[in-house]
Amino acid sequence: MSERQVIIGTNRTGAQMSPEGTARQLEATRMFPADVPGDMSAYTAERERAIREADLIGSVPAPGSAKGVVKTALDKTIGKAPEVLLDKLGERLAFERTGVRLYEAMVAKATSAPGANPALVDTLRQIQAEELEHMNLVREAIETLGADPTAMTPCADMVGVKAMGVLQVLTDPRTTVSQSMSAILTIELEDNAAWELLIELARAGGHPLIAKRFEHALQQEETHLATVRQFIRDDLLAQVS
Ligand SMILES: [Fe+2]
Repeated sequence: MSERQVIIGTNRTGAQMSPEGTARQLEATRMFPADVPGDMSAYTAERERAIREADLIGSVPAPGSAKGVVKTALDKTIGKAPEVLLDKLGERLAFERTGVRLYEAMVAKATSAPGANPALVDTLRQIQAEELEHMNLVREAIETLGADPTAMTPCADMVGVKAMGVLQVLTDPRTTVSQSMSAILTIELEDNAAWELLIELARAGGHPLIAKRFEHALQQEETHLATVRQFIRDDLLAQVS
């Protein structure tokens, strides 16, 4: 796609556009100081106090407590510190589920953009299908450990909050394909690092069969990342050539 996605227009956000307005803005900061007195160290001290007093975000349900779970032959042993692995599995499940939705938003963007690129839409659909496969892979792993995949673990909660910015970029009707793909890049970079870590964690926790199954997902994530990076590069270079 070589359609220009950046335009020159009447952008007045720079301070140099209005020296008089900038002087008035500086005066206003003196007239109306922040309502929390002090400098940055006061904020840090306040944050430290809040951290000491806060509870954790949540907990991991006791492994093996899920009702009606059909145990598979896969890694039946509960493993070492299963709550650590279960928390991260819950995170991956939440992330991959969100990933399917993020790609759906990306497809809408790619389909309706000026100079829509059908090849990009096909690629996005394929990646989306793989994110869904990964979600089911994680669900099965959680069930294998006798846990409930519908339980929201603390890291699952955290990862949902983390993805909110990406979701906002993708669902904002004004963002371009380039901008949206850069949001997708954030997701794929994290996906790669996270699967790598999850494999190591599963192995260390005494679940070599789960780790083995996850390796395929990591390979697919590596391809996702390479594909997204290549698209972003080609798209931007086409706009300047
Ligand atoms: Fe991915």
